[in-house]
Amino acid sequence: MTHSRPVPMVDLRAQYARIKADIDAAVAGVLESAHFIKGEDCSLFESEFAAYCGARQAVGVANGTDALVVALRAYGVGVGDEVVTVANTFIATGEAILLNGARPVFVDVDPVTFTMDASLLEKAITPRTKVIVPVHLYGHPADMAPISEVAARHGLPVLEDAAQAHGAELEGRRAGTLGHAACFSFYPGKNLGAYGDAGAVTSDDVAFLAKVRQIANHGGGANKYDNLVVGTNSRLDTLQAAVLRVKLRHLDRWNAERAERVQAYTAALADVPGVVLPTQRTGVRSAWHLFTIRTRERDALQSRLKAEGIATAIHYPKPLHLQPAMASAGGRPGDLPVSETLSREVLCLPLYPELPFEDIARVASEVRSFCTAAVARA
Ligand SMILES: Cc1ncc(COP(=O)(O)O)c(C=O)c1O
Repeated sequence: MTHSRPVPMVDLRAQYARIKADIDAAVAGVLESAHFIKGEDCSLFESEFAAYCGARQAVGVANGTDALVVALRAYGVGVGDEVVTVANTFIATGEAILLNGARPVFVDVDPVTFTMDASLLEKAITPRTKVIVPVHLYGHPADMAPISEVAARHGLPVLEDAAQAHGAELEGRRAGTLGHAACFSFYPGKNLGAYGDAGAVTSDDVAFLAKVRQIANHGGGANKYDNLVVGTNSRLDTLQAAVLRVKLRHLDRWNAERAERVQAYTAALADVPGVVLPTQRTGVRSAWHLFTIRTRERDALQSRLKAEGIATAIHYPKPLHLQPAMASAGGRPGDLPVSETLSREVLCLPLYPELPFEDIARVASEVRSFCTAAVARA
C-alpha cells in the first residue's frame, strides 16, 4: 500500500483553479444572455479556433465523433464506400465510417510514431475508396506528405482526425490545416477541452464547411424550417463555446507545459531497460496529448504503478479491426501486426500541464525500479 499522494492521469480541477475567474464570468455571460443555442460565443469561437489553426473556417459541432460522422457525410460517404484509416485509434474513428454505412479499411501504423504507415496506404485504396482518415495519435501529426501524395494521385480527400492534436505542428503548419479538412474533439481531457462534449471541423474549403454546417443543423437552409438534406442535431452549444474561448487563449502555454513535462520524463526514463520512449519525427512539434511508453511488461508495470497510487491508461487495448463492433469490416488477428503489438505494449503515463515535476520523478523512479528488476528476472 502506498502512503504517497496519488498521481492522477489528468487533473481538470487544477486547470480550472488557474482560470476560474475568466471561466465563471464567461459562463455567467451565457446564462444572462440565455442564448444557449447559436449564441454569439459559438461564431466567435469558430473564427478564433480557425485562426488559431491557420484554417479559413471552422464549424462547431456537438463532439468529436459527430465531427467525423458529419464530415464524412459531407463528402458523400455512404453504403458501398470505403474509407481508409488506422486501427490504432479511439473507436470513434471507425464508428463514424460505419455509421455512414461505409466500410473502414484499416492500414497498419508506424511503430515509432504510432500513426498511419504511409508506405501501406496505396495498396489499401480501391475504386470504392472515398476518403483517407489519418489520426494524429497522442498529439503527433501523421506522416502527411506521403499520405497526401498518394491521396492526390487517386483524387481522394484527406480528413485529419485531429481529436488529440490541438496545436500540433508539422513543418510549421498546425493540425487542422494538414489535409482537406480536420475533425477536432473538445472532450474535457483533451489539450483543448470543454466542460462537456464539443467538437469542430476545420477546412479552407468553405463550400465543404457549409455542407458540414447544414448537416449538423438538421439539413437546414436559409430559413429555419427549410430542411434541404437529411441532417442531424449536432451543434456546438453556447456554454461550451464560451468555455472554449477562454481556454483557447491558454492552449499554447499549456502545450508548452506538456512539452516541458515530456522532457522531464524523457530525461528521467533514459536508458531504462526494456522501455521504449516516444519521440517526434523531424519537422514535428507534437501537442503531447499523451506520453506513451512501450514495454513488454506493460500489464505488470501498470499493476505495480496502480498499487503505488499512480494512474495510467492504455490507449488502446484492442485495435479497431478486432473490436466486435467493427466485425463487418472483416478484420482478423494477425492482419495488422504493429497495431496488435502496440495494443499489448503501450502504457500512457500521467501527463497534464499542471503535473508537478516531483510526481514525474516519482513515476519515473517506479518505472525504472520495476523495469530494471523485470529485466534482471528475465
Ligand atoms: C482519435 C479520436 N478520434 C475521435 C474522438 C471522438 O471525440 P469525442 O469523444 O469528442 O466524440 C476522440 C476522442 O475521444 C479521439 O481521441
